[in-house]
Amino acid sequence: MERRQRRREEYRRGLRPLAVAAWNITKEHNVGSLVRTAHAVAAEEVVLVGERDWNVEAARTAELFTTISQVPDQEAFRRHIAAAGWNLVAVELHERAVNLFEAEYPERPCFLLGAELGGIPEDLVEDAKIVVQIPQWGLVPSLNLAVAGSIVLYDYLAKLFKRGALARPEGGLSSIGGDLAGPGDDPDHTA
Ligand SMILES: C[S@@+](CC[C@H](N)C(=O)[O-])C[C@H]1O[C@@H](n2cnc3c(N)ncnc32)[C@H](O)[C@@H]1O
Repeated sequence: MERRQRRREEYRRGLRPLAVAAWNITKEHNVGSLVRTAHAVAAEEVVLVGERDWNVEAARTAELFTTISQVPDQEAFRRHIAAAGWNLVAVELHERAVNLFEAEYPERPCFLLGAELGGIPEDLVEDAKIVVQIPQWGLVPSLNLAVAGSIVLYDYLAKLFKRGALARPEGGLSSIGGDLAGPGDDPDHTA
């Protein structure tokens, strides 16, 4: 079997039971950045909600290895996460939100990020098991959504690590050190 194919299979064997979702993102580079982080943390899937066709070029080939599902609206999204057994975590600036530093996440989390303008619809925030807000100390009221998603994903992994529940905390594929280690597939892994 080709080395590239073996690396893909090895990557998929190491997928973690977590998902990332985005509500009606309008900017292509934000979709790409989110997919790239989802790929880095070995998320099982990325769910894009909305009718748009996205160009995920900014994902730098991560879109080739990470499952990306697209659903048209809130109802389809609800059905999708129920069928997959995901527990919704809304990442949002919201009165119901808990501070990131105090957040305790459910099992099988699906981290939902909101649109650049308007954020996550209130109905979906209400559906969430937990709403997480990243504290800020600046004058600009919000973070870029892909940055916010990345911070929360790594906070989740850090909390798993502290409980001794994070597989492969050093990173890499599960056969790290073997002939599958190394950047291999990514033509631009330094970007
Ligand atoms: C640019 S913000 C949306 C800003 C604003 N709520 C609005 O309605 O235009 C886009 C998304 O990034 C995420 N986000 C940004 N800053 C955040 C923070 N400090 N805590 C949690 N989520 C944040 C949320 O998912 C939010 O919906």
